[in-house]
Amino acid sequence: MITIEEIRKEFPLLEGLNQDGCKLVYLDSAATTQKPRQVIEQLTNYYTTTNANIHRGTYDLAEKATRDFEKTRTQIQQFIHAEKPEEIIFVSGTTEAVNLVADSYVEPILNAGNEIVVSAMEHHSNLVPWQQLCLRKNAKMQVLPMNEQGEIRLEKLADLLSGKTKLVAVSHISNALGTINPVKEIVSIAHEYGVPVLVDGAQNAGHHRTDVVDLDCDFYAFSGHKMYGPTGTGILYGKEKWLEQMRPYRYGGEMVKAVRFEKSSFKELPHKFEAGTPNIAGVAGLQAAVAYIENLGIEYISEHSYALLNYATEKFLQIRGITIIGQAASKSGIISLTAKDIHPHDMSTFLNEYGIAVRAGHHCSLPVMEFFKIPGTTRISFGIYNTTKEIDYLVQCIEKAIKYFA
Ligand code: ALA
Repeated sequence: MITIEEIRKEFPLLEGLNQDGCKLVYLDSAATTQKPRQVIEQLTNYYTTTNANIHRGTYDLAEKATRDFEKTRTQIQQFIHAEKPEEIIFVSGTTEAVNLVADSYVEPILNAGNEIVVSAMEHHSNLVPWQQLCLRKNAKMQVLPMNEQGEIRLEKLADLLSGKTKLVAVSHISNALGTINPVKEIVSIAHEYGVPVLVDGAQNAGHHRTDVVDLDCDFYAFSGHKMYGPTGTGILYGKEKWLEQMRPYRYGGEMVKAVRFEKSSFKELPHKFEAGTPNIAGVAGLQAAVAYIENLGIEYISEHSYALLNYATEKFLQIRGITIIGQAASKSGIISLTAKDIHPHDMSTFLNEYGIAVRAGHHCSLPVMEFFKIPGTTRISFGIYNTTKEIDYLVQCIEKAIKYFA
């Protein structure tokens, strides 16, 4: 079994020193994960051996580029246990995936007086598109509440569903609190009312097993860069029956069958959603990222995340003046905390002096901060390369900060 120390060696950025000669302690993987050498090399490899546009050329190089791109689609289908590769749409990230569903699926069926349900702990990317759509259509956004632990109040969901509801949009794991939501139960309740569910899986896909068939969700969105892959890559999974009936999202080259000045016809799935030249190099990098995860084993990655979560939570609970925001029974490797009288930005700036990278602020989840009546939190989030030694060092530095600001 590979050790975490060996894994760390595969991440070049973690090897370097900062300007003060400190080793980087990177605890912001919920924002973006660092990239292993395999992914970085694959990007170079793509440009040095395979670069050609896809689905166009008839020469060998273009055919190889196309084959590799489509192989990655199948690899991702298998990774998330989808039924067909046609259900995998390449997008630039979770945000684009959500906007695609908003524009192509919900917009045409949303009428005045209809409703969309979101949870109280959504990232802005799974909230603002729905809010803006509702404003445009004179529809209503309903909010599934959470409790003080940062857990969805599942018992309230049925009250919010009716014949007026067109979609439930919910995060699999809250980026601000780390809560793992009961997505399977949410889907099952929504389906009793005939309402499809979109799951924002950005914080899940790189850390825990994803099985879209088992969840029975209708849409699942995630980003490559939060799962050790390149920025600008992402996936929208959609059940074929929905994708088939949806209109294209972007119009242009490569998504059309025939074009006349009067009208055009569009390609089959998945190509009708992939207008223009996609991020081919990024997808090559994503292929390496998924291979990297599968090689380590998602269970191994998941267990490591829980181990760090438990270790760090225990330590933080012992520090006087520290409050953990979000104490759900089911959490992933994300811990949000406040330190009495210290603004999160002061805390993160202080920690930066010691080479520690954490995120501070509202984490693109302002309603979550409003709920807890705080301006923001200091957020620690783990990747496969983090160690308990780093947590010990973080704890020492947080204690120093508390003394310093007292
Ligand atoms: N969504 C990313 C985060 O939570 C950027 O930090």
